[in-house]
Amino acid sequence: MSFRSAGFRNAVLGSATALAFALSASAVMAQTTAPKSAVSASAASAPAAASTAAKPAVASSAAASTAATTPPTASSATEPAVAVAIKPGDATAGQAKAAVCGACHGIDGNSSDPQYPKLAGQSEAYIAHQLASFKAGKRQNPIMLGMATPLSPQDMQNVGAYFASKTSLPGVADQALVDHGQTLFREGDPTRGIPACMACHSIDGRGNPGAMYPQLTAQHAQYIQATLKAWHDGTVWGDDTHSQIMPSIAQKLDANDIAALASYVEGLHSAEPTPALATP
Ligand code: HEC
Ligand code: HEC
Repeated sequence: MSFRSAGFRNAVLGSATALAFALSASAVMAQTTAPKSAVSASAASAPAAASTAAKPAVASSAAASTAATTPPTASSATEPAVAVAIKPGDATAGQAKAAVCGACHGIDGNSSDPQYPKLAGQSEAYIAHQLASFKAGKRQNPIMLGMATPLSPQDMQNVGAYFASKTSLPGVADQALVDHGQTLFREGDPTRGIPACMACHSIDGRGNPGAMYPQLTAQHAQYIQATLKAWHDGTVWGDDTHSQIMPSIAQKLDANDIAALASYVEGLHSAEPTPALATP
């Protein structure tokens, strides 16, 4: 009898655990699906043309139903479905998709919480590339995996165009760290094999969209620091050569370098001289 009741107890405990797991799993599901419905809700209230226009491949069947409201553009209607040609991003179409991103990144791409990177003024190509990497699991982040998964390549381009059209708000550097940060940023440290950051990211931190070197200007120091530290500790955002660049540089940076660079970068302003640069 005692054996039976123990077995029964285990069974009850087991199913209770399973239930608890199922409950928490569905809570997670609910959480991750909530933003999606927010997107579709906002997409639904936004002009519907945006999403259909962006996807000529699936438009063939949808075109019939939307033809009444949307004048079909000759080019997208005749384009063969196989050619998944990604057009330059459409910031207006991107804005509808970006509504959900605003919760963390700020609706104009200027996040107020420094753990979330600013996207304002970041290049369209870089944003689209990172979203594709998150979706493919090459750049690993559970939150961004969930955010990037529903986005098509064209959505990524559109969202990128939207945030690229915004202006990043200036940050402030810590005066105590500026000198060391500036020296590394502008000259690197040849004795330790550290290249000058500005060689790729440009002197004002604007970056180089063509080469997909991101803008660093005014980025939150906390995010920069965490990112450089992750690379230093072995994180890589993919297996192509492009993704090896920053990890190999960050390996040569120590904790002081990283703190100084992160602070210096946050204080960089692209247009006017920064407070950091103004100090002799
Ligand atoms: C719940 C918070 C949250 C939401 C919502 C969110 N993100 Fe993010 N995002 C993050 C975090 C955290 C990171 C940093 C990931 C890392 O450290 O690798 C990030 C990083 C990014 C990056 C990389 C930026 C860089 O400088 O490398 C891009 C691009 C991005 N998010 C785009 C988006 C877009 C587009 C959306 C909306 C579809 C979105 N995010 C929604 C939290 C969020
Ligand atoms: C040879 C070119 C090159 C040099 C030099 C370089 N970077 Fe980069 N940097 C890149 C590339 C490429 C990326 C994008 C990484 C990716 O997509 O995997 C990047 C990304 C970054 C990012 C992430 C930005 C974001 O929004 O997530 C930070 C931070 C950064 N670099 C800081 C630095 C610092 C600090 C230095 C100088 C010590 C430096 N970089 C030198 C090419 C370079």
